[in-house]
Amino acid sequence: MFSYTRLKIRRLTSGRKERRQKKTLARRAKKVSKQCGSVGKNLIVFGDDIELIAAEKIVIGDNFKLNNKTLINAVSGVTIGNDVTLSHGAKIISTGYDLDLWIKTGRRKHFDNKPVKIGNKCWIGTNAVILPGVEITGENVVIAAGAVVTKSIAESNVMAAGVPAKIVKKLGE
Ligand SMILES: CC(C)(COP(=O)(O)OP(=O)(O)OC[C@H]1O[C@@H](n2cnc3c(N)ncnc32)[C@H](O)[C@@H]1OP(=O)(O)O)[C@@H](O)C(=O)NCCC(=O)NCCS
Repeated sequence: MFSYTRLKIRRLTSGRKERRQKKTLARRAKKVSKQCGSVGKNLIVFGDDIELIAAEKIVIGDNFKLNNKTLINAVSGVTIGNDVTLSHGAKIISTGYDLDLWIKTGRRKHFDNKPVKIGNKCWIGTNAVILPGVEITGENVVIAAGAVVTKSIAESNVMAAGVPAKIVKKLGE
């Protein structure tokens, strides 16, 4: 009798916990969706410490997983395909200083002409950085933790790692 009651209480509390978690996930997804230009189905946002700059220029496909401490700077525009994960602390940056202008005139002005495009089925590991103008057009691309991606990746089924990131492994071989 005693253990039956305890079981009932445990079920009740875990049900409540689940409902609370669902509510939190829904609230976060709503908040991010409201800011972004467009967002597909099943957005999951794991945390509240997410920075979106020029969020109205972010286009996201279906099943995007956005982890905590991430940054998307979309001044030049950022397009993300379906089934993409941006891991904890990873960053997508689409602007910086226009170096020509800086060197020639001393004026520091941000450029807005280097959009970033992430294709379908891409996993961007923790603390990786995707720099302005990069296009990851292959499918099943893994960007290893801590990588700094300076050039586009057109191959599918590859893992890129390091600074600057290079393809170091073909996946599924
Ligand atoms: C990329 C990753 C998934 C490993 O993939 P894998 O296919 O199992 O790769 P391997 O372990 O076989 O490594 C292949 C080579 O890449 C190197 N490598 C792996 N991860 C690396 C990294 N983050 N940076 C630099 N080199 C890396 C390995 O040392 C190995 O080099 P070697 O061939 O000279 O020995 C893993 O290293 C990683 O970075 N995971 C990210 C974890 C993460 O962000 N989690 C967040 C959860 S949402």
